[in-house]
Amino acid sequence: MPGEYKEFDPKNMPFRRLGSSGLRVPVFSLGGWLTLGGTVIGDPVKEIIKVAFENGINMFDTAEGYAQGKSEEEMGRVIKELNLRRSDLVISTKIFFGTREGPNDKGLSRKHIIEGTKASLERLGLDYVDIIFAHRPDPTVPMEETVRAFNYVIDQGWAFYWATSEWTAQEIEEAHHIAHVYGLIAPVAEQCQHHMLHRERPEKEYEPLYKKYGLGTTVFSALAGGLLTGKYNKGIPQDSRLAKHSDLPFLKQLIDSFGEEEGKRKLQVVQQLNDLATNELGCSVAHLALAWVAKNPNTSTVILGASKPEQVLDNLKAIEVIPKLTPEVMDKIEKILGNKPEPISTWGRPPLDKFGRL
Ligand SMILES: NC(=O)c1ccc[n+]([C@@H]2O[C@H](COP(=O)([O-])OP(=O)(O)OC[C@H]3O[C@@H](n4cnc5c(N)ncnc54)[C@H](OP(=O)(O)O)[C@@H]3O)[C@@H](O)[C@H]2O)c1
Repeated sequence: MPGEYKEFDPKNMPFRRLGSSGLRVPVFSLGGWLTLGGTVIGDPVKEIIKVAFENGINMFDTAEGYAQGKSEEEMGRVIKELNLRRSDLVISTKIFFGTREGPNDKGLSRKHIIEGTKASLERLGLDYVDIIFAHRPDPTVPMEETVRAFNYVIDQGWAFYWATSEWTAQEIEEAHHIAHVYGLIAPVAEQCQHHMLHRERPEKEYEPLYKKYGLGTTVFSALAGGLLTGKYNKGIPQDSRLAKHSDLPFLKQLIDSFGEEEGKRKLQVVQQLNDLATNELGCSVAHLALAWVAKNPNTSTVILGASKPEQVLDNLKAIEVIPKLTPEVMDKIEKILGNKPEPISTWGRPPLDKFGRL
């Protein structure tokens, strides 16, 4: 019933290739960790995805482990209820954490990759996802087994591309090496944490991989879970991630850090960025933080997180801020952040450009 589909209008959304693949992804996409199927269920999930889709977001990210599979179920339900055309969408899910505790219900064995993918598709109510991620590396499984299993998933038509998440550069290298030796498909992208307060791995460790393999990134936590919106500068609002998930060890650690030197310094940086955004760019610190990650030439897509539809709409204003990030503004940001990773040393030899030329 093609006539009944809700038509996709990209509006002012820029699209980029996912790494060196032919897949085009929107610069801003939307993910479901903690929110969709977790703290947000039922009609509000539909409202968030509807607002995203109506404003140029056609890429949605989930994982088997998000809310023990509930995130995939909710996303699948909403895609159906909104009557979105499958070919308009880019859907990604991730395999590793599973939904159960059995010895073979997690990780990157051939068994779990194949069984996990089938179960994810069932929860999503889809025949295929566009990208399937290895949600973490699994050092307990031979890399060749993992690479071959993702190739099998692609050969079955259950996914078009495979990718990694939070793998070290060395692990990504190993996957590429195996794919090259056996004529298999290599991972096209890495889903990594990248924001103004977390830069070393995406900006330095992966640098050789961008040049060598054209590695793409689907960036997560670009707002540092909300810290870069400035909402935590005057305490922890009741209706916020830090209030709702203070039981998660790494969020508890962040909350505890606010009373210490390191956390206070982060809040100060957010305040200074907020002043720069308001006074010089006419935008919010959240827009600035999102535009800054989106501007990075190695970023394929920034996966937004949102607990309310208004946050999606607000965050998309970052598109207008990207062109405002002139070299002068970027210098000012670097001065405030003071955390630019040192370039990889060439030991006195002149560095090469990004094409490997002098
Ligand atoms: N591969 C991985 O290991 C991994 C890890 C993490 C995330 N991800 C993916 O990346 C996606 C995004 O990650 P994230 O949720 O950590 O991103 P984020 O953008 O850093 O944080 C999103 C949270 O910040 C708050 N927020 C967002 N916009 C706001 C606004 N305009 N004003 C005030 N508060 C706002 C909301 O939380 P509250 O309203 O609840 O405070 C929202 O849920 C996830 O959904 C998931 O798909 C992947």
